[in-house]
Amino acid sequence: MKPKGKRVLSGIQPTGNLHLGNYFAMMKPMIEFQEENDLFCFIVNYHALTTVRDRNKLKKGVIEAAADFLSLGLNPEKAIFWVQSDVPEVLELTWVLSCLTPMGLLERCHSYKDKINKGITPNHGLFSYPVLMAADILLYQADVVPVGKDQKQHIEVTRDIAEKFNFTYGETFTLPEEFIDPDVAIVPGIDGQKMSKSYNNTIEIFLDEKTLRKKIMRIITDSTPVEEPKDPEKCNVFKLYKLFATEDEIKEMEKNYRNGGFGYAQAKELLFEKVNNYFKPYREKREELLKDRDRIYKILSEGAEKARYIANKTLRKVRKKVGILY
Ligand code: ADP
Ligand code: TRP
Repeated sequence: MKPKGKRVLSGIQPTGNLHLGNYFAMMKPMIEFQEENDLFCFIVNYHALTTVRDRNKLKKGVIEAAADFLSLGLNPEKAIFWVQSDVPEVLELTWVLSCLTPMGLLERCHSYKDKINKGITPNHGLFSYPVLMAADILLYQADVVPVGKDQKQHIEVTRDIAEKFNFTYGETFTLPEEFIDPDVAIVPGIDGQKMSKSYNNTIEIFLDEKTLRKKIMRIITDSTPVEEPKDPEKCNVFKLYKLFATEDEIKEMEKNYRNGGFGYAQAKELLFEKVNNYFKPYREKREELLKDRDRIYKILSEGAEKARYIANKTLRKVRKKVGILY
C-alpha cells in the first residue's frame, strides 16, 4: 500500500549514471510520495566509498545524482534532500549500532555474499555497510523506505538492530517498513538479468537519443523468426515496454507477439520511442540545471541543515540512553 502521512526515506549511491531499475524502484516512488508524506531523500556518498576510489568520480556522481533527482521532479520545497556526508552525525550512530550488531547478522547478508562470490576483496566498510544504512534510516526515525527487492534484507537488518537497541536501552527507534512495488521489484537489464551497474546491462535514464537507441537495439532476444508467434512474457523488450506503456498499448503488443508476423526489431523500435519520449523533457531540464551548479549545492546544503536538526534530536536521545551524555 502506498504510504500517506508517513515519514518516507531513501538514499541512492552516487556511483554513476542512474538507470531504469533505480528509477522505477526508488526514484519514481520517492518523487510521487513527496506529495502526501514527509520525504527524506539523500545521496549516500559514505556508502559509495566502499567501492569508489576516485575522488573526482565521487564528486561528479554526487552532483549528477542531485541533478537527476531534481530534474525528475524532486521538489526541495516539499522534500528534504541532502548529501549523506553533510550530516556526519550518522557515523556516530553507526558506531553505537555496530556495538549492538551481531557479526552473524551481517555475515548472512546476500548483497555482501554476492560481492564476495564475484571475487571482490571485501573491506570492512563493505561488511558493515548495512549498519551505516540502518543508521541512515533510524537517525531520521523513518516509517517507510522505498527500495528495490535487493535491498529488502537490509531493511530487515535495520529492524533487527532497532529492536535490539530498543530492548537494551528502552523504546527509542521507529521500526521501518520497506516499500517494494511488486511490478518493478526487479527490473531486467538488456541481458535479462537484474539491471545493475555491476552487470554492465543497464539502460541509463539520461542517455542521449542516439545512444539510447543503440542500447535498446542491443537487448537480447531469442531467435524466433519474424513470422512465428512469440511469448511476450519471456521477452526482455516486452518486460521493459510494460513499464512505460498504457494498458491498451500493452494488450496490443501482447497480441502482436502471439499472432506472429511481428519482429523483435519492431518491438524495440516501439520501446525506444516510449523511453525516449518519456525522458526527453527531463533530459532538457537536467541540462539546464547542470549549468547552475551553485544552485544545486545551495539546495543540498539547505537540505542538510534541516536533516541535521532532526538527526541531532535523535542522537541526543541515543547518547543519553547509552551513557555518553550526562
Ligand atoms: P545497482 O545495482 O545498479 O548498483 P543500486 O544498488 O545503487 O543499483 O540501487 C539503488 C536503488 O535502486 C536500490 O533501491 C535498489 O534496490 C534499486 N534497484 C537497482 N537495480 C534495480 C533493478 N534492476 N530492479 C529494481 N530495483 C533496482
Ligand atoms: N544501500 C542502498 C542501495 O545500495 C542505498 C542506501 C544507503 C539506502 N542508505 C540507505 C537506501 C537508506 C534506503 C535507506 O541502494
